[in-house]
Amino acid sequence: MEKKVYVNTLEDMEKLAKAVAGTVIPGYVIGLAGDLGAGKTTFTKYLAKYLGIIGNVNSPTFTILKIYEGKIPLYHVDVYRLEDIGYDFELDDFLFGNGLTVIEWYPYIERMLPDNLLTIDIQIGDDGIREITIKGNGSYEKAVETISNRYGN
Ligand SMILES: Nc1ncnc2c1ncn2[C@@H]1O[C@H](COP(=O)(O)OP(=O)(O)OP(=O)(O)O)[C@@H](O)[C@H]1O
Ligand SMILES: [Mg+2]
Repeated sequence: MEKKVYVNTLEDMEKLAKAVAGTVIPGYVIGLAGDLGAGKTTFTKYLAKYLGIIGNVNSPTFTILKIYEGKIPLYHVDVYRLEDIGYDFELDDFLFGNGLTVIEWYPYIERMLPDNLLTIDIQIGDDGIREITIKGNGSYEKAVETISNRYGN
């Protein structure tokens, strides 16, 4: 299942994150893709808000992983620098059964990711509007439908 939605403003981004947060259950894995500045971290901040996380969620680019406590734990991962660092990692280091794992730049480790995954790809058009493709297989198929219905475009 794949749906496209359009995000024009930060308010739209927040609304999308809220719709996604409503589908999250423990063990959920979200992959985020899109160029530098596409809004991956911004989206994650809003997601954190709707998971009841209080405090500032910021980019884990240099730390690779940050953990936040909320309704369920948020494991915020950014694999952008893994190649530079030459870090030899195991997929299990990034998947946590009891919480939500959000992976920025997931295409870098796509081969290692499970089939059951929600992916959110952000493309900024010439007009500045973000075209966001939400994709999910297996148990995430229904979530894609729910998210696009709740978001509403
Ligand atoms: N509609 C929007 N959605 C998301 N971000 C927006 C939007 N409009 C403006 N922005 C701004 O664009 C920037 C997006 O930066 P952000 O750090 O979220 O990107 P990123 O995809 O995580 O980048 P990186 O690849 O460096 O991690 C922020 O400064 C944010 O305020
Ligand atoms: Mg980021």
